[in-house]
Amino acid sequence: MPTNWSPKLIATINFKGGVGKTTVTWCMADTLALFPNQKVLMFDLDAQMSLTQAIALNEDSGRLEDRFGKWYETSVQRKKTIFDAIEAFTRPRANFDFPIGFDVIYQISDQLHFVPSVEDLYWLELEVFDRESMRDFIRRLIGKITNSPRMPRYDYVLFDCPPSFTLLSYSVLTCADLVLIPVNPDFFASRGTSLILNSLKMRIEPHPLPKIGVFMNKTKTFGRDQTTGRWRPTNESAFYIREVGRVCSEASKRENIEARFFDSFIRERVGIKRAITGGGVPADLVPDFRTLWQECRELLSQ
Ligand SMILES: Nc1ncnc2c1ncn2[C@@H]1O[C@H](COP(=O)(O)OP(=O)(O)OP(=O)(O)O)[C@@H](O)[C@H]1O
Ligand SMILES: [Mg+2]
Repeated sequence: MPTNWSPKLIATINFKGGVGKTTVTWCMADTLALFPNQKVLMFDLDAQMSLTQAIALNEDSGRLEDRFGKWYETSVQRKKTIFDAIEAFTRPRANFDFPIGFDVIYQISDQLHFVPSVEDLYWLELEVFDRESMRDFIRRLIGKITNSPRMPRYDYVLFDCPPSFTLLSYSVLTCADLVLIPVNPDFFASRGTSLILNSLKMRIEPHPLPKIGVFMNKTKTFGRDQTTGRWRPTNESAFYIREVGRVCSEASKRENIEARFFDSFIRERVGIKRAITGGGVPADLVPDFRTLWQECRELLSQ
């Protein structure tokens, strides 16, 4: 197993709540894990535990055994959660003694693995840990996972971040390859985008910013364009798409950051609600996520 292997780290972030961070992280992970021979690891970094609860529902509903529930209980009892990892990392003079195994990482399928959240992550923000002592946590944890001979070679690691700037978000942002920012076609879209783009830079300086991909989620559409075959956004969604595109290019020039507004978008579909709890991206949204991924891949390769 090569030790210089490094997976692509992708964080889904927006300080605005409810834009679809959790849904998009899961759908992206699911999309990537369907490509042949790709191994994907997904982290829930939100103390609200939405992704963890959804996985629990998905894994355990209709089964005789609570496979995830039992695994999770053991992981908490044996102090193998992400919070325990943070404690081991920040303990004075300790050498980050936290062996990685499948008691830390849950296997959803052969290709998709998961590190759940714990309520204890709330404590993290209460000044127990200072910002600089947490900075390298994610980078070192991924290093441990990558170098562990018992663990698979992950191609992608996806992080579902909370709707606020936490110490964990800071730690992820200082080492991520790509930050994905979902926005919604509503009144808050352009203001919210401008806010996150400007504050991201301020918050992680002096570290360089990762690549940033902004895209519209919950886009309302009406039929396809007959020539291109692309879904056509409604006038209202098209208006916000233009606004966010403008904000991204202005912020990129003014702040000297690379924030790309993707051409592709994810359509608003009620079926997506069942995606996390019912096993995967709904069939009619698979092309949306594949197209979005193509743009992410292009940006990553530049
Ligand atoms: N493309 C979509 N079409 C329809 N509904 C969507 C879409 N994407 C997300 N949703 C819905 O929007 C709601 C919020 O989604 P989600 O929980 O993923 O957002 P979030 O940004 O992670 O929220 P939070 O800030 O609380 O972490 C959910 O009910 C979800 O099902
Ligand atoms: Mg969420």
